[in-house]
Amino acid sequence: MSLFHWIDFSPLGDERGSLVALEAGSTVPFPIKRVYYIFGTKEGVSRGFHAHRQLQQVAVCVTGKCRMVLDNGKKREEAWLDSPTKGVLIQDMVWREMHDFSPDCVLLVLASEHYDECDYIRNYQDFLDVLKK
Ligand code: TYD
Repeated sequence: MSLFHWIDFSPLGDERGSLVALEAGSTVPFPIKRVYYIFGTKEGVSRGFHAHRQLQQVAVCVTGKCRMVLDNGKKREEAWLDSPTKGVLIQDMVWREMHDFSPDCVLLVLASEHYDECDYIRNYQDFLDVLKK
């Protein structure tokens, strides 16, 4: 099974353009406690390089694109986030990295919990050690 669990957002389009609505409990399979977005990423900068102990997130590039790497300690996969109508669901204990941000990229993230630095695992070896426990 792929590490990339895609969620298709149905755009509500009319002659004026498009609109996507994300609702907790339907499009997004968890209560949303936090929303953040990453933008203005400088050329050549990669982000992420961490896993979360207990956090679910949905990430979508609302404009532009970036290349996401997911790793569960057994396998590593990558995919482009390049559509405002396609989100990726990232579950607990998945290492994530984001690379090759386009200059216009706005990466929107919906999260199931408030920000908690203690929930982060920022060292890859620590991540593997926690998985083994
Ligand atoms: P970080 O999670 O390290 O970013 P990346 O996506 O590259 O892994 O977050 C960068 C900084 O922002 C860090 O100091 C923590 C802070 N931050 C918050 O205060 N609240 C948040 O919701 C997030 C995601 C980060």
